[in-house]
Amino acid sequence: MKVATVKETAPNERRVALVPEAIGKLTAAGHEVLIQAGAGDGASIPDADFTEAGARVVIEDALYAEADVVLRVQKPTPEEIGKLRSGQVVMGLLQPLIDPQNAQALASAGVTAISLDTLPRTLSRAQTMDALSSQANVGGYKAVVMAADAYGRYFPLLTTAAGTAKPANVLILGVGVAGLQAIATAKRLGALVKAYDVRSETKEQAESLGAQFLKLESVADATGEGGYARELTDEEKAAQQAELNKHISSMDVVITTAQVPGRRPPLLVTADAVNNMKAGSVIVDMAASALGGNVELSQPDDTIVTDNGVTIIAPTNLPATMPGGASGFYARNISALLAHFIEEGEMSFDFEDEITVGTVITHDGKVVHEATAALLAPAEGGAA
Ligand code: NAI
Repeated sequence: MKVATVKETAPNERRVALVPEAIGKLTAAGHEVLIQAGAGDGASIPDADFTEAGARVVIEDALYAEADVVLRVQKPTPEEIGKLRSGQVVMGLLQPLIDPQNAQALASAGVTAISLDTLPRTLSRAQTMDALSSQANVGGYKAVVMAADAYGRYFPLLTTAAGTAKPANVLILGVGVAGLQAIATAKRLGALVKAYDVRSETKEQAESLGAQFLKLESVADATGEGGYARELTDEEKAAQQAELNKHISSMDVVITTAQVPGRRPPLLVTADAVNNMKAGSVIVDMAASALGGNVELSQPDDTIVTDNGVTIIAPTNLPATMPGGASGFYARNISALLAHFIEEGEMSFDFEDEITVGTVITHDGKVVHEATAALLAPAEGGAA
């Protein structure tokens, strides 16, 4: 098969779906690897490194004309979908549940679309394919580095001839993949770290990384299905915010990473809580999106400084700001998922398999992914 990697076109996207280290396995298995010229530029990987690793660097037209499978990070634009031909396979973080119309367009083009962001995360055999986790890990690290950069004081306790600097008090809200990496990174920088999550099993995980776990009286445990949290009731939400407010006011840095899949991110840091923080404090809202984030005042992809001097940073694509590291992990994930579909050198789809059911969004001209199809159903009904 010819496996191709495109140059990403989304604004500020600097990752690339394959890195030279991932090419050897594909060529050893008898596949040819095509790379669009300049695909690695954003991640500082020159074309020559891909060539040296055994890939053929081609221009975009040749790539789409020749490829059997197109690997990418972000979903294709309508223009890029127009370049795909029926029978081709495209793989990436296609976000079908956020943009089901894009999935519909891929189905109409006769393309088989495979999305890494709908992979069932709890299957242990899917761990190597889990791009959401690998990228959240990068994000959790970078969020702390950004906070440390924006904070005008030290993270560690520092004793010098000129006096002693107190360590920063850092609070991590949400102890999933991003939150655990944020705890570990803030600890490595020497901060005093507290953490909080509604799933009680995260207490031990946070403590094992050296954080103090905050126990709130308002929510006993909100463990939901599949290792995720359940959404809180309105009463629980209000009580949780009120209790968190007291802790937030004494923090120098707050990093928020809380999510409940398929729901608007929970609001954990209210405008009131920010008002009570000290000037110079920093908040990074990793959950910020057009739907809202964990922080009431955060503005997606913007940094604001409130009247009382609190900096609120809301980056929506942290992995793209660490393109070399993030692409390396992503390439491992997408290669592992691709390998899952290859049988005797060809793409093969077994719709009895959970990974296939979870990740194949379109096939044979149809949207086959149940949750995506459900989102499209009312619109189809209306058009009929
Ligand atoms: P995850 O699902 O592993 O962790 C989320 C955690 O939030 C879970 O442990 C859950 O129990 C907790 N949670 C849910 N409701 C809560 C509540 N009311 N109070 C406290 N904790 C609560 O998710 P992951 O992979 O760590 O990602 C976290 C967030 O970061 C997501 O919103 C994800 O989209 C986002 N993200 C953002 C990036 C960026 O560049 N800004 C990059 C990667 C991920």
